Amino acid sequence: MAESSEVLVVSAPGKIILHGEHSVVYGKTALAASIGLRTRVRLRSSSNGATRLHLASLDISREWRLESLSHAIPIIDGIRNPAPPQADSMLILRQLSQSDKGDIEDSALLVFLFLYTHICSASALPGLDVEVGSDLPPSAGLGSSAAYCTSLAAALLAATHNISRNPSNGRWQQEDLELIDKWAFRAETLIHGNPSGIDNTVSTFGGALSYQSGHISELKSMPTLRVLLTNTNVPRSTSTLVSAVKDNVNKFPDIYKPILDSMGAIAVESKRVMEALASGTLPEVSVACNTLESKDDLFCVLETLIDVNQQLLMALGVGHPCLEQLCRVTRKHGLHSKLTGAGGGGCGFTVVPPGVGANVVEAVRADLVRCGFVCWETDLGGPGVCIPRTEQSLVQEK
Ligand code: MEV
Repeated sequence: MAESSEVLVVSAPGKIILHGEHSVVYGKTALAASIGLRTRVRLRSSSNGATRLHLASLDISREWRLESLSHAIPIIDGIRNPAPPQADSMLILRQLSQSDKGDIEDSALLVFLFLYTHICSASALPGLDVEVGSDLPPSAGLGSSAAYCTSLAAALLAATHNISRNPSNGRWQQEDLELIDKWAFRAETLIHGNPSGIDNTVSTFGGALSYQSGHISELKSMPTLRVLLTNTNVPRSTSTLVSAVKDNVNKFPDIYKPILDSMGAIAVESKRVMEALASGTLPEVSVACNTLESKDDLFCVLETLIDVNQQLLMALGVGHPCLEQLCRVTRKHGLHSKLTGAGGGGCGFTVVPPGVGANVVEAVRADLVRCGFVCWETDLGGPGVCIPRTEQSLVQEK
């Protein structure tokens, strides 16, 4: 463990799914990127025989005496191969993570206890003081739970010296990132049941990537894409929406499976267009504009793909009147939007093509704010989980 005076700070980004939410659960390709909003974990040793967790954005503080946790330490088969959570130790951890606040809070406490007792299980549990802060709104489709799971997994793995950074660039090596990703995925299953894994993958590796059944392919290059993110402030539950879609697919496979196929095809097409935008070459694109002569034409294709996917997501049953309102408002200004994440409320994004002036963006933003929504302009494709540069000198990893 780190010395008590040392503070370990880890941060991990949220994500935007450009295309492929829900269909990715059925093995179709999805296209996603990290966003500029991040979650930060600050961890230090404590010597008062307890571990304390403070979650600033959920306004929760909890402390557990180490003796009360000792009988919840699982027997695990090494740290490098996280197995699914075991029922008996999860039963104890669920009891220890009850709060009188609500499901999101209980899940956040459970995830912490799961990662802490499992990653630190090799020796006596160390007393820790852990603080978590986040820019990400919870339950809004921006991967707040994945950023939480990823940053906590990385902080605990680093504090227990199970991962180490490359001395030349201060970053974790590929195999260490893969380990963080595996633990983050296991933790995500406690919140979302049966997630596709895309959210923790983006949070771990950052950048822009396409993802299919656990296989990641980084985009060759990412165009500079301006995106306006809008939170409708309508809360929703990813696992409820995923199981509602599953019910529909099981009941009417001939109707719903073609929708999922189309969504996968849209993600593949959109990836080609984005790579063409980044490289300046015009691909043979099979939709939208008849001839592709310029960057504007490529944006026109991107916008068509956004519109089609938004309609498909509504047909899948994950729309919401607020999301339709968002699309209508931006459309009035000539801009195209779709939901991102599980839908049913939460966030949508709007692509802002290069020629669109600041006055238009301001007018769109003002209209959206009048609807009661919250907007940000954000960068896409920033770094995945890391120790922020400003904090690197504070930590001495052995
Ligand atoms: C993830 O943010 C959104 C869904 O695709 C679920 C998943 O991939 O696990 C709806």
